[in-house]
Amino acid sequence: MEHALDIALTVNGTQVSRRVPARQNLVDFLRDELGLTGAHVGCEHGVCGACTVRVDGDIVRGCLMLAVQANGCRVETIEGLSDSKELAKLQEAFHERNALQCGFCTPGMLMAAQDLLKTNPKASRDEIRLYISGNYCRCTGYQAIVDAIEEVIHGPR
Ligand code: FES
Ligand code: FES
Repeated sequence: MEHALDIALTVNGTQVSRRVPARQNLVDFLRDELGLTGAHVGCEHGVCGACTVRVDGDIVRGCLMLAVQANGCRVETIEGLSDSKELAKLQEAFHERNALQCGFCTPGMLMAAQDLLKTNPKASRDEIRLYISGNYCRCTGYQAIVDAIEEVIHGPR
């Protein structure tokens, strides 16, 4: 039988305690155990960024972190940031600029973009491109995504 461990963490401001398989990754825990399906599972090996969530204030790849490693941590997902309206400006800009098609990459893209706004609030277009280069989009060709983030940072052009 697979080894299981008890964990306690905060997810989107709510205290959560569960017994989890030792090898369960964080994104599967959030999706399967807590029903938070906004973080997506794409490549499952740290390449595509679809699984991006925040742990203790920093964005991480939910497929590369075990749920047990989040024990005692503060985890935030796209659902929490959306509910708190932290993403409101980015969401509006993505919507207005048609910066999504299938939407699979969008939660991770928004999490990364919001992180950029925090860490480099005056980011140039090149810096935006570099920052989201770890988030793959199969549909848009990125232009509209970069336009949307640029608009939030520098205002409409
Ligand atoms: S699913 Fe985690 S980086 Fe692709
Ligand atoms: S909108 Fe489809 S992957 Fe980005």
